Amino acid sequence: MYEIAFSYRNVEYEVGVIEQLISRYTQVPVRRILELACGPAVHAPLLRARGYEYAGIDTSVGMLAHGRARSAARQTPMTLLAADLRAFSLPHACQLAFITLGSLCVESTCDLQAHFAAVALALESGGLYLLESCVNCAPNAGRVESSQMGAGSTLVDATCECRTVDAAEQLIEERLTVIATWDGQQHQYSEAARRRQI
Ligand SMILES: C[S@@+](CC[C@H](N)C(=O)[O-])C[C@H]1O[C@@H](n2cnc3c(N)ncnc32)[C@H](O)[C@@H]1O
Repeated sequence: MYEIAFSYRNVEYEVGVIEQLISRYTQVPVRRILELACGPAVHAPLLRARGYEYAGIDTSVGMLAHGRARSAARQTPMTLLAADLRAFSLPHACQLAFITLGSLCVESTCDLQAHFAAVALALESGGLYLLESCVNCAPNAGRVESSQMGAGSTLVDATCECRTVDAAEQLIEERLTVIATWDGQQHQYSEAARRRQI
């Protein structure tokens, strides 16, 4: 269902952009890449194919299991660790850290600072931290985005709604509702997450 809901993404194009940013902004050769809140690690096989080592961290055991199954099916070795992006450490420093789909899931300024401190320790000096869709220069309140995607006889309708929780703290709540239809039956999944905006 995750792949269908996000199948509007062009992961190959995104990996191309990551490589352009590496060539433009890193000051050291990039060998190891770390993805924060990696979910099923959709970029990992393409990054591995281009010669990088890949490590991903996520708190969701289910997402990591899905990523490991994809990695085994494609025979692309990668390191997937259960860890929180506010407090993690890695055995080896990386030269690029990245986070996509606005997955910087922190709820307070304190959490945000803890996250940046952990990334600073994981990243070699001269490396790059790439944040995609994580910086919002205008309030997100009232934003509603929907997408409808299909694969075979399965249809997935995803809606993301935002509301302000605390304007002074730049804290918003995002609610994701996914309705999947297959065999004529609807299955609904919903979750709400608070984000401290930057
Ligand atoms: C929408 S998914 C995006 C996954 C991936 N970045 C992508 O582009 O496909 C958001 C992910 O953030 C993870 N997540 C949420 N809070 C987290 C935290 N505190 N530390 C690490 N991962 C977290 C969730 O488990 C989920 O896999």
